[in-house]
Amino acid sequence: MMILSIESSCDDSSIAITEIATKKLIYHKKISQELDHAEYGGVVPELAARLHATALPKILEETKNYHKGLKAIAVTNQPGLSVTLVEGVAMAQALAISLSLPVIAVNHLHGHIYSLFIEKETLFPQTILLVSGGHTQVIDAKGFEEFEILASTMDDSFGESFDKVAKMLGLGYPGGPVVESYAKKGDRDRFSFTIPLLHSPKIAYSYSGLKNQVRLQIEALGEEMSEQDRYDICASFQKTASAHLIHKLKKIFKQRSIKDFAIVGGASANLYLRSEIEKLCQQNGANLHLAALKFCSDNAAMIGRYAVDAYQKECFTPFDKIVSSPRVKI
Ligand code: KG4
Ligand code: ZN
Repeated sequence: MMILSIESSCDDSSIAITEIATKKLIYHKKISQELDHAEYGGVVPELAARLHATALPKILEETKNYHKGLKAIAVTNQPGLSVTLVEGVAMAQALAISLSLPVIAVNHLHGHIYSLFIEKETLFPQTILLVSGGHTQVIDAKGFEEFEILASTMDDSFGESFDKVAKMLGLGYPGGPVVESYAKKGDRDRFSFTIPLLHSPKIAYSYSGLKNQVRLQIEALGEEMSEQDRYDICASFQKTASAHLIHKLKKIFKQRSIKDFAIVGGASANLYLRSEIEKLCQQNGANLHLAALKFCSDNAAMIGRYAVDAYQKECFTPFDKIVSSPRVKI
C-alpha cells in the first residue's frame, strides 16, 4: 500500500513513492533545473514548464514496477508557478484515471512542514519557521491542517533576498548556497547593515530594504570591488538577514510557551541560520527540529509524507478542485 507523489511547483521535477503503513520512502528522485535557469539569474516559468514536461515522464517511467501497489496519487497544487504546477497536476490526473485511484492535492507549504516527518512519526504542536524562495512565515502548527500564521514577510522572502544579493554580485542562481559559501570567507562585521523593522513593534518581516542597503554598498565600492569585498558583503548581509529573523522570533518566544520549534524550506539549509536558531532554542529551553539537508529544498518526498496523513484521514481531493485558481490567496 503506497502513495505516489509529484512535485513541480517551481524548478524541481520530483516523484516519490511512500509506503503508507511504515511511512518509509521507497523511491525518490529529483531533477533540478537550477543550471538551466542560472544564466537568466532566476527561474523562467515557461522554460521551467517545458523542462518539467520532459523530466517528469522520465522519472515516472522508473516507478512503473510500484504502480500495482498504489492507493493514491498526491500532487502539489498550490502555491507556485501556475504553468509548472499544471504539469504535475496533469500527470496526477492522468495516473488517477488510468489506475482508478483517488488524488490528494497538497499545499506546497504544508509539504515543507511535513519534510520534518519523512520516515518519522508526525509531531504536533510545533512552532515552525518556514524560509523558502517564495515565503517567510512563522507558523503555529497545532495538528494536521491546523496551521495558523503568526508572522510573514511584507515584501521579499528570506531566500529571495539571498537570490537578489547573489544576482547583484554576479554570483548566479540560486543565490542561497553561493552567498552562504562566500559568507564563510568574509568578515560579517565589516559592513553594518541595519536590521529591518528593528524599532517597530510589528511581528512581521521585510527584506526589500536590506536588499537596497546591499545595493548601495555595492555601488559605493564600484568597479574597484574585490573578491574579499564580495565575501564581506555576503557575510554582513547573511548576519543581518538572520538577525532580523531572530529578533522577531524572540518576541514570539516571549509571547508563547514553545516546547518544539522547527525550521523548514529551502533556506533552512543555511548553516549560519541553523546555528543562530539553535542558540535561540537553547536560551528558551525549546527542542529544535530540522529536516535532513537533502529534504530542505523542494522535493516529492515531503508531499508524499503529507499525503500519508491525509490518506489515513481520508482527505481526498475532488477532481474538479485539483487545479487551483492562480488567484487563490494562501
Ligand atoms: O523551498 P525552496 O527549494 O523553494 C521554494 O519553495 O521557494 O527554496 C529555495 C530558496 C531559494 O531562494 C534559495 O536561494 C534558498 O531557498 N536557499 C538558501 C540556501 N539554500 C537554498 N538560502 C540561504 N542559504 C542557503 N544555504
Ligand atoms: Zn519550496
